[in-house]
Amino acid sequence: MIKPDAVRAGNIGNILQMINAAGFRIVAMKLTHMTKERAGQFYEVHKERPFYGELCDFMSSGPIVAAILEKNNAVEDFRKLIGATNPANAEPGTIRKLYATSVGENAVHGSDSDENAAIEGAFHFSGMELY
Ligand code: RTP
Ligand code: MG
Repeated sequence: MIKPDAVRAGNIGNILQMINAAGFRIVAMKLTHMTKERAGQFYEVHKERPFYGELCDFMSSGPIVAAILEKNNAVEDFRKLIGATNPANAEPGTIRKLYATSVGENAVHGSDSDENAAIEGAFHFSGMELY
């Protein structure tokens, strides 16, 4: 996902360009706006964490771009491309170093395993929306 902060800042194009340049194929993509309830479902694994409420408020604060990306070693390579959760710790040239403003408002989401990528893809897209 391109998160609401990056959409608001006009960085959809810049981020998609980096994703294309890194060799990912776009299988599905849409601009959508999650309700607070849907954001809560998406990040349910974090529901006991102190930042959960703030995260759900933020993720439902404006439209996001949801996408399914395909590549060999996609999960690991995408996490390298996006950089550390906290942009202060992100490597130079990563998406979060360039476009995130804080640990909470960090521009992009990446799945953390192939299994979660499949679950998260199905959260946003029906089978007919995959190409
Ligand atoms: P993501 O799931 O969004 O790709 O991020 P991540 O794996 O790098 O980080 P994760 O630990 O899964 O946390 C999910 C999102 O919660 C927000 N967060 N806020 N205030 C805080 O200390 C804090 N910690 C995490 C961030 O938006 C993070 O990306
Ligand atoms: Mg995560």
